[in-house]
Amino acid sequence: MLSRTPPMGFNTWNTFAENINADLIKETADKMVELGLVDAGYKYLVIDDCWSKKERDPETGKIVPDENKFPEGMKAVSDYVHSKGLKFGMYSCAGTRTCADYPGSYGHEFLDARTFAEYGADFLKYDYCYKPHTADGVKLYRKMGMALKACGREILFSACNWGNDEVSKWIRSAGAHMYRSTGDIFDSFESMRDIAMSQIENLAYSAPGCFNDIDMLTCGMYGKGHVGFGEDIDRKQFDIDYKTEFSLWCMFSSPLMIGCDIRSISDETLKLLKNKTLIRINQDEESRPAFVGSRLEKSTPTFVKHLSNGEFAVLFTNMGEERNGRCALYFDEIGIPADSGYGLRLVDAITGEDIGVKKEFFMIELEKHDSRMFIGRLEK
Ligand code: GLA
Repeated sequence: MLSRTPPMGFNTWNTFAENINADLIKETADKMVELGLVDAGYKYLVIDDCWSKKERDPETGKIVPDENKFPEGMKAVSDYVHSKGLKFGMYSCAGTRTCADYPGSYGHEFLDARTFAEYGADFLKYDYCYKPHTADGVKLYRKMGMALKACGREILFSACNWGNDEVSKWIRSAGAHMYRSTGDIFDSFESMRDIAMSQIENLAYSAPGCFNDIDMLTCGMYGKGHVGFGEDIDRKQFDIDYKTEFSLWCMFSSPLMIGCDIRSISDETLKLLKNKTLIRINQDEESRPAFVGSRLEKSTPTFVKHLSNGEFAVLFTNMGEERNGRCALYFDEIGIPADSGYGLRLVDAITGEDIGVKKEFFMIELEKHDSRMFIGRLEK
């Protein structure tokens, strides 16, 4: 099964947008191996928008790679990516043009799926710009779902209609393996927080085979790149924000697509993205939705997620702008009444610190934007 657990990899868009080329892809592939990201599970290397020429080939009708960016064509890039033990991802759009105004697949779905198969693609992100008004969006995703099935290669279908048309209700039936459910992320705490918080009601739609994608990670961008805000101190994110971002993505079973420049990734980001416990929470085979356990203040929700081995992931967050925020977990609210005699042994997912068995309630203070993930075990 493709997408038994949330897909993991890298996507060019957040940092590079149109500034992509074969060397960047190869260097990124090399680094993903060298830094142990592939071993940690990040398997897909996805080229987003802006890879093709502005028009299709007039004779064959095919989309063609821009020879200035990919002089040896796409198959050569894909072969290189595969030779490194990675999987290769491509991008197209359900409308007539892509969001950055390159040819879209509307009316060419089966031909394009075959072209991606010829490239050796293992993944297709499928966007939603320039959809003709008369076209039915659901049918367009069904059509590409079928075209991928017919193309002769197993290709993971990554839908991206930003949550339109109540997508979570039908996208799994169209054959998608993951689907975007929000607009685009930007590298600011506000953008990241709003995207994550908007998806709480939607979490139950993620399950093996098809996952709610809350967008590519901005962890490690520090304001740089296409979706960054430069040196704007009030908007760029810091390590503490990225810890919260990655913890939420893991808690929410979202695909984990790295969006920073891996060739110059910081030690702190690398450590975070390779954290085995956080990845285990994200990749848990049952993919149970997290729920809000307690919410002492609006900005300090605490999330709980059942894990398949009988443990629980427990995430305390302070999404507020106050210096300190009080975060609580009332055990009665998550199904552990005091008269059961049970509490939770809590072990910090990042530091490994065992803080003992907590009963009835547990309260901590967190700095603004901070979070703390624990693994919990029922104990008397
Ligand atoms: C849309 C998508 C982004 C990215 C761009 C490319 O905005 O949501 O993730 O793929 O298009 O143009």
